[in-house]
Amino acid sequence: MSNISTASAVILLSVLSACASSRDVEGTGGCVDCHGDASKIGAPATLADAAPPRDAQGNTTSLAVGAHQAHVRGKVFSAGVPCTSCHAIPTSVGDHARGDARVVLRDFAGTASGTFTARSGATAASCAATACHGSATISWNQADTLSCTSCHGAPPTTGAHPSVFQPHAFMGDRCDYCHFDVATTATSLKSTGRALHANGVKNVTVTNFEGTAPSGTYSPAVGCAPGCHASFGLTAPQPW
Ligand code: HEC
Ligand code: HEC
Ligand code: HEC
Ligand code: HEC
Repeated sequence: MSNISTASAVILLSVLSACASSRDVEGTGGCVDCHGDASKIGAPATLADAAPPRDAQGNTTSLAVGAHQAHVRGKVFSAGVPCTSCHAIPTSVGDHARGDARVVLRDFAGTASGTFTARSGATAASCAATACHGSATISWNQADTLSCTSCHGAPPTTGAHPSVFQPHAFMGDRCDYCHFDVATTATSLKSTGRALHANGVKNVTVTNFEGTAPSGTYSPAVGCAPGCHASFGLTAPQPW
């Protein structure tokens, strides 16, 4: 009898540890059995396929489904963020599946950051003061209305932004003078900029006087050298 129990325990343990491997997630699609993309059941699935739509109750529109797809696959403003930005990736079914999604918001370096307010009745969860959305309070279920000024100013009021834009009227609202790889103007990202944007890295590529091609270098400690100002013979670094 005790041998049978031991054998059952061994089998149970090996089943559990199979579930616990995140590689199994991708190999067998086991994680999509309960939530995520049901069309991937039995097929190889990626972790992103385990994210709603299709919450743990099978709903494809619910407060829990929220903005998962825009976040894990990316949309207009970013190429997506990992699950761990908002919650740990469970390593076993038994460890989670308890009916309480445990959300801990993190900044791009993985440090807990921002404020999360859990769903309550018919009121969706929300976040505030996060690394991604700045000071804004955002509902997990809000209509898709983000603009270029939802998360930061365009241009922001930080650093020398005001002093470059105010006296240099010819620059209009062009961000590409200094963020050449990311954005064209205050209202549009470059098609290649999406993957560099809102990813925790401040991408600065300074340009020539017309803002049409990279020129010079930038580093936070030194500023830009010589960049735009070389056209005036000003070759000394300009601090930001
Ligand atoms: C931007 C933040 C964010 C990211 C990134 C994110 N989630 Fe979530 N997730 C949430 C929030 C918030 C909830 C809780 C929603 C609620 O119940 O109100 C949640 C809940 C869930 C749930 C539970 C659904 C239910 O029915 O209770 C699953 C499953 C889930 N997430 C899977 C994933 C997976 C897998 C990834 C990565 C591929 C991921 N999430 C990435 C914010 C996020
Ligand atoms: C037996 C059904 C079931 C399976 C299989 C399952 N989950 Fe879940 N999962 C749930 C339920 C239910 C929730 C809702 C929140 C909770 O109960 O923790 C959830 C929530 C989540 C969440 C939100 C964060 C959290 O801890 O609640 C993530 C991320 C997640 N699952 C990922 C996975 C991954 C990765 C796998 C494969 C290793 C997996 N799930 C397999 C049922 C399951
Ligand atoms: C004259 C150069 C210049 C122009 C033009 C410029 N930026 Fe910046 N931007 C910078 C520098 C330099 C940084 C700081 C990088 C660092 O901290 O190393 C920065 C950083 C940022 C940041 C991160 C927050 C911060 O201040 O560190 C945002 C957001 C930003 N810029 C948006 C914009 C937008 C939107 C535009 C166009 C409307 C724009 N910038 C135009 C030089 C510029
Ligand atoms: C979801 C929030 C969010 C929205 C919406 C948003 N940004 Fe940003 N943006 C950020 C964050 C966060 C940074 C800080 C640097 C980083 O993480 O890339 C940033 C940085 C920038 C930078 C500095 C270059 C860089 O990548 O570091 C520029 C330029 C910029 N944004 C332009 C725009 C424009 C133009 C739009 C509208 C098309 C826009 N942003 C909309 C979050 C946002």
